[in-house]
Amino acid sequence: MSERPTKAILRVLNGEPVWPLPIWIMRQAGRYLPEYRETRKQAGSFLDLCYNPKLAEEVTLQPIRRFGFDASILFSDILVIPHALGQNVRFVENEGPKLDPVTSQSDFSRLADELPLERLEPVFETLDRLRQSLPKETTLLGFCGAPWTVASYMIAGKGTPDQAPARLTAYRDPAFMDALIDKLVRASTAYLIRQIDAGAEAVQIFESFGSALPPALFDRLSLEPIRRIVEGLQAARPDAKAIVFVRGGGAHLHRMASEGIADALALDWTLDIAEILPRLPLGIATQGNLDPLALIAGGEALDKGIDTILNVARRMPHIFNLGHGILPETPIDHVEQMIARVRGA
Ligand code: CP3
Repeated sequence: MSERPTKAILRVLNGEPVWPLPIWIMRQAGRYLPEYRETRKQAGSFLDLCYNPKLAEEVTLQPIRRFGFDASILFSDILVIPHALGQNVRFVENEGPKLDPVTSQSDFSRLADELPLERLEPVFETLDRLRQSLPKETTLLGFCGAPWTVASYMIAGKGTPDQAPARLTAYRDPAFMDALIDKLVRASTAYLIRQIDAGAEAVQIFESFGSALPPALFDRLSLEPIRRIVEGLQAARPDAKAIVFVRGGGAHLHRMASEGIADALALDWTLDIAEILPRLPLGIATQGNLDPLALIAGGEALDKGIDTILNVARRMPHIFNLGHGILPETPIDHVEQMIARVRGA
């Protein structure tokens, strides 16, 4: 029997309401922080930063030092998996990720079959350091991308509107698509298990592109692969908690909840929390869902957005967060305003 957790985020992930709501924000280590921009310059490239345990630990800790968030999310990226599988991945300044596209059977056969975990050793060392350096009340989160989101980058070689290249591949060559998704399921499961062993207490799976998929493809390429990862993780490490964030997954939310796909569902900012939370099955936690642009705007718009969440989520197992990642142009004093309002409630 595992002990009852004392950390606020873990209590919520166990289905327990906690007040004031615990809070962290997606992409909390990032360019809106001057100290991040400084460390990022020192590191060289973005991937150099991801694979430098000392500097990755430092940027992971920066938002914790400044704001005292209740969770700390490992600093890394979802694209370290294709990178470790052998795909060429680079991050181009002001453009985002660029990969050598995997489109043919011969591209696919050049990828490793099993994830070479040793290539991700720096990531596990970062977690090991964080386990020791974080305040005792802070929950350490690991993460990975969901297979569909990662596959869409692997196939197109970059971010694409509506993930058209990957969607077309799913129709034209279902066997290829299924093989790629299956590889990513196995790799992501092994990766998350190792993150838990290195010190992560819960993980979040990021499906950033759920909205692009029609219902039949959603089940095959998003929901089932995510389910396999969570089941594989929790079969191996029963105490590991899982948060699933499907951006654009609103149409499937109640089904995901009633099928118990994860311990918590993260909601994007388009969803009506007042409609959703009271109708969810008991025990499932939620996270979200302030519009990142309300955080940029500040003032009354921000206060109203926060209050909408607080009014609904009182007595619910809910983690306050944004509905997607914080944007680089966000003023730091707005983040402070948000935290004060959530904690002062
Ligand atoms: O949340 C955190 O603080 C942890 C770190 C984290 C990063 N990326 C750091 C990062 C996490 C959890 C991610 C996830 C990620 N990466 C996703 C899923 C979540 C989402 O936002 O939808 C996706 C789709 C990626 C792929 C990716 N990485 C893109 C498209 C970009 C470029 C876009 C941009 O904002 O520039 C990145 C780069 C990246 N990952 C940055 C950070 C802090 C900015 C790079 C820099 O410092 O130059």
